[in-house]
Amino acid sequence: MLKKAVILGCGAYLPEKVLTNDDLSKMVNTSDEWIRERTGIRERHVVSEGELTSDLAVKAATEALEAAGLTASDIDLVLVATTTPDLTFPSTAAIVQAKLGVEEGAAFDIQAVCTGFVYALSTAEKFLATGQHRRALVIGAETFSRILDWEDRATCVLFGDGAGAFVLEAQDSETAGDRGVMQSYLRCDGRLVDLLYVDGGVSSSQSTGHVRMQGNKVFREAVIRISQAMEKVMADAGVSVQDIDWFVPHQANERIILGVVKKLDLRREQVISTIAGQGNTSAASIPLAYHAGVSDGRIKQGDLVLLEAMGGGLTWGAALLRA
Ligand code: ACO
Repeated sequence: MLKKAVILGCGAYLPEKVLTNDDLSKMVNTSDEWIRERTGIRERHVVSEGELTSDLAVKAATEALEAAGLTASDIDLVLVATTTPDLTFPSTAAIVQAKLGVEEGAAFDIQAVCTGFVYALSTAEKFLATGQHRRALVIGAETFSRILDWEDRATCVLFGDGAGAFVLEAQDSETAGDRGVMQSYLRCDGRLVDLLYVDGGVSSSQSTGHVRMQGNKVFREAVIRISQAMEKVMADAGVSVQDIDWFVPHQANERIILGVVKKLDLRREQVISTIAGQGNTSAASIPLAYHAGVSDGRIKQGDLVLLEAMGGGLTWGAALLRA
Protein backbone atom coordinates (compact mmCIF):
# COMPACT_ATOMS: atom_id res chain seq x y z
CA MET A 1 0.00 0.00 0.00
CA LEU A 2 1.50 3.34 -1.05
CA LYS A 3 2.03 5.93 1.65
CA LYS A 4 1.03 9.59 1.52
CA ALA A 5 3.52 12.46 1.78
CA VAL A 6 2.13 14.85 4.39
CA ILE A 7 3.57 18.33 5.01
CA LEU A 8 4.43 18.60 8.71
CA GLY A 9 6.02 22.05 8.62
CA CYS A 10 7.53 24.75 6.47
CA GLY A 11 10.20 27.39 6.83
CA ALA A 12 11.65 30.35 4.96
CA TYR A 13 14.66 32.60 4.93
CA LEU A 14 15.47 35.83 3.09
CA PRO A 15 18.90 37.49 3.21
CA GLU A 16 18.98 40.76 5.17
CA LYS A 17 20.22 42.95 2.33
CA VAL A 18 17.40 44.57 0.31
CA LEU A 19 17.72 46.02 -3.19
CA THR A 20 14.88 48.36 -4.17
CA ASN A 21 13.81 49.34 -7.67
CA ASP A 22 15.24 52.79 -6.99
CA ASP A 23 18.59 51.20 -6.09
CA LEU A 24 18.53 49.39 -9.45
CA SER A 25 17.67 52.56 -11.32
CA LYS A 26 21.06 53.89 -10.18
CA MET A 27 22.79 50.84 -11.67
CA VAL A 28 21.00 50.39 -15.03
CA ASN A 29 18.66 52.42 -17.24
CA THR A 30 15.39 51.44 -15.58
CA SER A 31 12.77 52.90 -13.25
CA ASP A 32 10.63 51.87 -10.31
CA GLU A 33 7.57 52.55 -12.46
CA TRP A 34 8.71 50.27 -15.33
CA ILE A 35 9.59 47.39 -13.00
CA ARG A 36 6.37 47.64 -10.96
CA GLU A 37 4.11 47.95 -14.00
CA ARG A 38 5.72 45.11 -15.99
CA THR A 39 6.41 42.69 -13.12
CA GLY A 40 4.80 43.73 -9.82
CA ILE A 41 8.22 43.75 -8.12
CA ARG A 42 9.13 46.57 -5.69
CA GLU A 43 12.22 45.13 -4.03
CA ARG A 44 14.18 41.91 -3.62
CA HIS A 45 16.63 40.43 -1.09
CA VAL A 46 20.19 39.63 -2.11
CA VAL A 47 22.97 37.76 -0.36
CA SER A 48 26.02 39.49 1.06
CA GLU A 49 29.61 38.52 0.43
CA GLY A 50 30.28 35.01 1.71
CA GLU A 51 26.60 34.09 2.13
CA LEU A 52 25.96 30.80 0.33
CA THR A 53 22.92 29.00 -1.06
CA SER A 54 23.46 26.30 1.59
CA ASP A 55 23.36 28.96 4.35
CA LEU A 56 19.93 30.14 3.19
CA ALA A 57 18.75 26.54 2.81
CA VAL A 58 19.88 25.59 6.33
CA LYS A 59 18.02 28.55 7.87
CA ALA A 60 14.78 27.71 6.04
CA ALA A 61 15.15 24.00 6.84
CA THR A 62 15.79 24.70 10.53
CA GLU A 63 12.54 26.67 10.76
CA ALA A 64 10.67 23.92 8.90
CA LEU A 65 12.01 21.28 11.32
CA GLU A 66 10.95 23.41 14.31
CA ALA A 67 7.48 23.89 12.82
CA ALA A 68 7.23 20.11 12.35
CA GLY A 69 8.41 19.45 15.92
CA LEU A 70 11.29 17.35 14.56
CA THR A 71 15.08 17.36 14.61
CA ALA A 72 17.75 16.50 12.04
CA SER A 73 17.88 12.91 13.30
CA ASP A 74 14.28 12.39 12.10
CA ILE A 75 15.19 13.13 8.45
CA ASP A 76 16.38 10.52 5.95
CA LEU A 77 16.04 12.39 2.66
CA VAL A 78 17.30 15.88 1.77
CA LEU A 79 16.40 17.34 -1.62
CA VAL A 80 17.59 20.79 -2.61
CA ALA A 81 16.10 22.39 -5.71
CA THR A 82 18.66 24.90 -6.89
CA THR A 83 20.31 26.34 -9.98
CA THR A 84 22.87 28.20 -7.92
CA PRO A 85 24.75 25.50 -5.98
CA ASP A 86 27.63 26.32 -3.60
CA LEU A 87 30.01 24.14 -5.64
CA THR A 88 29.98 22.21 -8.90
CA PHE A 89 30.11 19.15 -6.65
CA PRO A 90 29.17 17.82 -4.17
CA SER A 91 25.50 18.70 -4.26
CA THR A 92 24.23 21.56 -2.13
CA ALA A 93 21.96 18.93 -0.54
CA ALA A 94 25.04 17.07 0.73
CA ILE A 95 26.41 20.31 2.22
CA VAL A 96 23.03 21.15 3.78
CA GLN A 97 22.74 17.62 5.16
CA ALA A 98 26.07 18.02 6.96
CA LYS A 99 25.35 21.54 8.22
CA LEU A 100 22.02 20.39 9.67
CA GLY A 101 23.51 17.24 11.20
CA VAL A 102 21.36 14.79 9.23
CA GLU A 103 23.21 11.46 9.24
CA GLU A 104 20.77 9.02 7.68
CA GLY A 105 19.54 8.44 4.16
CA ALA A 106 20.12 10.17 0.85
CA ALA A 107 20.71 13.75 -0.29
CA PHE A 108 20.76 15.19 -3.78
CA ASP A 109 20.02 18.32 -5.80
CA ILE A 110 17.27 18.81 -8.34
CA GLN A 111 17.98 21.16 -11.24
CA ALA A 112 14.86 22.36 -13.03
CA VAL A 113 15.50 26.11 -12.59
CA CYS A 114 12.31 27.91 -11.50
CA THR A 115 10.31 24.66 -11.69
CA GLY A 116 12.78 23.02 -9.32
CA PHE A 117 10.56 23.00 -6.24
CA VAL A 118 7.67 21.32 -8.07
CA TYR A 119 10.11 18.72 -9.44
CA ALA A 120 11.60 18.19 -5.95
CA LEU A 121 8.22 17.90 -4.24
CA SER A 122 7.08 15.38 -6.83
CA THR A 123 10.31 13.39 -6.42
CA ALA A 124 10.09 13.37 -2.63
CA GLU A 125 6.46 12.28 -2.77
CA LYS A 126 7.43 9.23 -4.81
CA PHE A 127 10.37 8.30 -2.53
CA LEU A 128 8.06 8.55 0.50
CA ALA A 129 5.15 6.73 -1.18
CA THR A 130 7.18 3.53 -1.54
CA GLY A 131 8.19 3.62 2.11
CA GLN A 132 11.88 3.66 1.15
CA HIS A 133 12.33 6.95 3.03
CA ARG A 134 10.32 8.19 6.02
CA ARG A 135 10.83 11.93 6.33
CA ALA A 136 12.10 14.37 3.75
CA LEU A 137 13.35 17.91 3.78
CA VAL A 138 12.44 19.48 0.45
CA ILE A 139 14.18 22.81 0.03
CA GLY A 140 14.19 25.44 -2.71
CA ALA A 141 17.24 27.70 -2.29
CA GLU A 142 18.80 30.20 -4.66
CA THR A 143 21.41 32.91 -4.88
CA PHE A 144 20.40 34.08 -8.36
CA SER A 145 22.12 37.42 -7.72
CA ARG A 146 25.40 35.54 -8.34
CA ILE A 147 24.49 34.64 -11.95
CA LEU A 148 22.90 37.90 -13.01
CA ASP A 149 24.49 40.26 -15.48
CA TRP A 150 24.13 43.46 -13.46
CA GLU A 151 24.42 45.49 -16.66
CA ASP A 152 21.48 43.73 -18.35
CA ARG A 153 18.35 45.65 -17.31
CA ALA A 154 16.10 43.03 -18.94
CA THR A 155 17.09 40.37 -16.40
CA CYS A 156 18.80 41.91 -13.36
CA VAL A 157 15.62 43.63 -12.15
CA LEU A 158 13.62 40.38 -12.02
CA PHE A 159 15.38 38.08 -9.57
CA GLY A 160 16.07 37.83 -5.85
CA ASP A 161 17.68 35.41 -3.39
CA GLY A 162 16.06 33.29 -0.71
CA ALA A 163 15.10 29.81 0.49
CA GLY A 164 12.02 27.92 1.57
CA ALA A 165 11.60 24.41 2.95
CA PHE A 166 8.97 21.73 3.59
CA VAL A 167 9.24 18.76 5.95
CA LEU A 168 7.28 15.83 4.54
CA GLU A 169 6.44 12.57 6.31
CA ALA A 170 5.36 9.25 4.84
CA GLN A 171 2.07 8.32 6.50
CA ASP A 172 -0.41 5.54 5.87
CA SER A 173 -3.81 6.72 4.73
CA GLU A 174 -5.46 6.12 8.09
CA THR A 175 -3.07 8.57 9.79
CA ALA A 176 -2.91 11.01 6.89
CA GLY A 177 -6.66 11.20 6.24
CA ASP A 178 -7.06 13.35 3.17
CA ARG A 179 -3.85 15.34 3.82
CA GLY A 180 -0.74 15.13 1.67
CA VAL A 181 0.56 15.65 -1.85
CA MET A 182 -2.26 14.46 -4.10
CA GLN A 183 -1.00 14.91 -7.64
CA SER A 184 1.91 16.37 -9.53
CA TYR A 185 2.63 16.84 -13.21
CA LEU A 186 6.08 17.63 -14.60
CA ARG A 187 7.01 18.72 -18.11
CA CYS A 188 10.07 19.79 -20.07
CA ASP A 189 10.59 20.87 -23.66
CA GLY A 190 14.35 21.12 -24.17
CA ARG A 191 13.87 22.52 -27.67
CA LEU A 192 13.07 25.84 -25.99
CA VAL A 193 16.41 26.10 -24.19
CA ASP A 194 17.31 29.30 -26.06
CA LEU A 195 14.47 31.23 -24.44
CA LEU A 196 16.06 31.10 -21.01
CA TYR A 197 19.53 29.82 -20.10
CA VAL A 198 22.88 30.67 -18.54
CA ASP A 199 25.69 31.33 -21.02
CA GLY A 200 28.34 29.34 -19.19
CA GLY A 201 28.94 26.04 -17.48
CA VAL A 202 31.41 23.39 -16.41
CA SER A 203 31.82 21.48 -19.66
CA SER A 204 31.26 24.40 -22.04
CA SER A 205 33.09 27.46 -20.74
CA GLN A 206 34.46 26.35 -17.36
CA SER A 207 32.77 29.46 -15.98
CA THR A 208 29.48 30.16 -14.26
CA GLY A 209 27.92 32.39 -16.91
CA HIS A 210 25.00 34.80 -16.69
CA VAL A 211 21.23 34.51 -17.11
CA ARG A 212 20.05 35.20 -20.67
CA MET A 213 16.33 35.43 -21.35
CA GLN A 214 14.00 36.31 -24.18
CA GLY A 215 11.47 37.50 -21.62
CA ASN A 216 8.61 38.30 -23.95
CA LYS A 217 8.85 34.84 -25.61
CA VAL A 218 8.89 33.12 -22.20
CA PHE A 219 5.91 35.27 -21.24
CA ARG A 220 3.97 34.12 -24.32
CA GLU A 221 4.62 30.44 -23.46
CA ALA A 222 3.82 30.81 -19.78
CA VAL A 223 0.08 31.24 -19.25
CA ILE A 224 -1.03 28.47 -21.62
CA ARG A 225 1.47 25.83 -20.44
CA ILE A 226 1.03 26.61 -16.74
CA SER A 227 -2.76 26.55 -17.05
CA GLN A 228 -2.66 23.18 -18.83
CA ALA A 229 -0.50 21.69 -16.06
CA MET A 230 -2.87 23.01 -13.39
CA GLU A 231 -5.91 21.62 -15.21
CA LYS A 232 -4.15 18.24 -15.53
CA VAL A 233 -3.45 17.86 -11.77
CA MET A 234 -6.98 18.94 -10.89
CA ALA A 235 -8.48 16.46 -13.41
CA ASP A 236 -6.22 13.62 -12.18
CA ALA A 237 -7.24 14.33 -8.58
CA GLY A 238 -10.93 14.60 -9.49
CA VAL A 239 -11.29 18.13 -8.13
CA SER A 240 -12.55 21.26 -9.83
CA VAL A 241 -11.31 24.81 -9.63
CA GLN A 242 -14.16 25.63 -7.21
CA ASP A 243 -12.61 23.19 -4.71
CA ILE A 244 -9.27 25.04 -4.59
CA ASP A 245 -8.65 27.10 -1.44
CA TRP A 246 -5.24 28.63 -2.27
CA PHE A 247 -3.17 29.18 -5.36
CA VAL A 248 0.60 29.34 -4.64
CA PRO A 249 2.29 30.14 -7.95
CA HIS A 250 5.95 30.51 -8.82
CA GLN A 251 6.52 34.25 -8.51
CA ALA A 252 7.98 35.16 -11.92
CA ASN A 253 5.72 38.01 -12.93
CA GLU A 254 2.47 39.34 -11.49
CA ARG A 255 0.99 39.61 -14.99
CA ILE A 256 1.62 35.89 -15.66
CA ILE A 257 0.02 35.00 -12.32
CA LEU A 258 -3.05 37.14 -13.00
CA GLY A 259 -3.26 35.74 -16.55
CA VAL A 260 -3.46 32.22 -15.12
CA VAL A 261 -5.99 33.32 -12.48
CA LYS A 262 -8.22 34.75 -15.22
CA LYS A 263 -7.84 31.75 -17.55
CA LEU A 264 -8.73 29.24 -14.84
CA ASP A 265 -11.46 31.32 -13.21
CA LEU A 266 -9.68 31.48 -9.87
CA ARG A 267 -10.25 34.51 -7.63
CA ARG A 268 -7.50 37.08 -7.06
CA GLU A 269 -7.94 36.73 -3.28
CA GLN A 270 -6.91 33.07 -3.56
CA VAL A 271 -3.42 33.97 -4.78
CA ILE A 272 -0.57 33.91 -2.28
CA SER A 273 1.75 36.52 -3.74
CA THR A 274 5.17 37.52 -2.46
CA ILE A 275 6.50 38.96 -5.68
CA ALA A 276 6.37 42.63 -4.61
CA GLY A 277 8.86 42.17 -1.78
CA GLN A 278 10.92 39.24 -3.09
CA GLY A 279 11.01 39.23 -6.90
CA ASN A 280 11.60 35.93 -8.65
CA THR A 281 13.57 33.67 -6.32
CA SER A 282 13.46 30.77 -8.79
CA ALA A 283 13.12 27.39 -7.01
CA ALA A 284 12.66 29.13 -3.65
CA SER A 285 9.59 31.15 -4.59
CA ILE A 286 6.89 28.51 -4.04
CA PRO A 287 7.96 27.43 -0.53
CA LEU A 288 8.56 31.09 0.37
CA ALA A 289 5.02 31.99 -0.72
CA TYR A 290 3.54 28.89 0.93
CA HIS A 291 5.31 29.81 4.16
CA ALA A 292 3.89 33.36 3.93
CA GLY A 293 0.38 31.90 3.59
CA VAL A 294 0.84 29.56 6.57
CA SER A 295 2.46 32.24 8.75
CA ASP A 296 -0.33 34.77 8.34
CA GLY A 297 -3.01 32.12 8.92
CA ARG A 298 -4.44 31.97 5.39
CA ILE A 299 -3.37 28.37 4.63
CA LYS A 300 -4.84 26.10 7.29
CA GLN A 301 -4.60 22.36 7.81
CA GLY A 302 -6.94 20.60 5.40
CA ASP A 303 -6.94 23.39 2.78
CA LEU A 304 -6.57 22.41 -0.87
CA VAL A 305 -3.55 24.15 -2.39
CA LEU A 306 -2.53 24.35 -6.04
CA LEU A 307 1.11 25.05 -6.97
CA GLU A 308 2.62 25.79 -10.38
CA ALA A 309 5.91 26.87 -11.92
CA MET A 310 7.69 27.42 -15.19
CA GLY A 311 11.37 28.01 -15.79
CA GLY A 312 14.47 27.37 -17.88
CA GLY A 313 14.44 24.21 -19.95
CA LEU A 314 11.73 25.10 -20.59
CA THR A 315 10.41 23.18 -17.64
CA TRP A 316 6.98 23.57 -16.14
CA GLY A 317 4.62 21.73 -13.85
CA ALA A 318 1.96 21.81 -11.18
CA ALA A 319 1.13 20.05 -7.93
CA LEU A 320 -1.96 19.71 -5.81
CA LEU A 321 -1.82 19.10 -2.08
CA ARG A 322 -3.99 19.13 1.01
CA ALA A 323 -2.20 21.07 3.76
N1 ACO B 1 13.66 48.89 -17.54
C1 ACO B 1 13.22 49.65 -18.57
N2 ACO B 1 13.02 49.13 -19.79
C2 ACO B 1 13.28 47.83 -19.98
C3 ACO B 1 13.74 47.00 -18.95
C4 ACO B 1 13.94 47.58 -17.68
N3 ACO B 1 14.36 46.88 -16.62
N4 ACO B 1 13.90 45.75 -19.43
C5 ACO B 1 13.55 45.78 -20.73
N5 ACO B 1 13.19 47.04 -21.07
C6 ACO B 1 12.72 47.54 -22.35
C7 ACO B 1 13.18 46.68 -23.50
O1 ACO B 1 14.49 47.03 -23.90
C8 ACO B 1 12.14 47.02 -24.55
O2 ACO B 1 12.48 48.25 -25.14
P1 ACO B 1 12.24 48.50 -26.71
O3 ACO B 1 10.76 48.36 -26.90
O4 ACO B 1 12.77 49.87 -26.89
O5 ACO B 1 13.03 47.42 -27.39
C9 ACO B 1 10.87 47.23 -23.75
O6 ACO B 1 11.29 47.47 -22.39
C10 ACO B 1 9.90 46.05 -23.78
O7 ACO B 1 10.64 44.87 -23.51
P2 ACO B 1 9.94 43.46 -23.39
O8 ACO B 1 10.95 42.43 -23.07
O9 ACO B 1 9.06 43.22 -24.59
O10 ACO B 1 9.00 43.73 -22.11
P3 ACO B 1 7.86 42.81 -21.49
O11 ACO B 1 6.63 43.55 -21.36
O12 ACO B 1 7.81 41.46 -22.15
O13 ACO B 1 8.40 42.60 -20.01
C11 ACO B 1 9.52 40.88 -18.72
C12 ACO B 1 9.64 41.98 -19.78
C13 ACO B 1 9.12 41.51 -17.41
C14 ACO B 1 10.86 40.18 -18.59
C15 ACO B 1 8.44 39.85 -19.15
O14 ACO B 1 8.63 39.50 -20.49
C16 ACO B 1 8.45 38.58 -18.32
O15 ACO B 1 8.15 38.59 -17.15
N6 ACO B 1 8.73 37.44 -18.94
C17 ACO B 1 8.66 36.13 -18.32
C18 ACO B 1 9.75 35.90 -17.34
C19 ACO B 1 9.62 34.51 -16.79
O16 ACO B 1 8.54 34.03 -16.48
N7 ACO B 1 10.68 33.78 -16.70
C20 ACO B 1 10.58 32.37 -16.32
C21 ACO B 1 11.02 32.13 -15.00
S1 ACO B 1 12.66 32.62 -14.73
C22 ACO B 1 13.67 31.21 -14.71
O17 ACO B 1 13.30 30.13 -14.99
C23 ACO B 1 15.12 31.44 -14.42
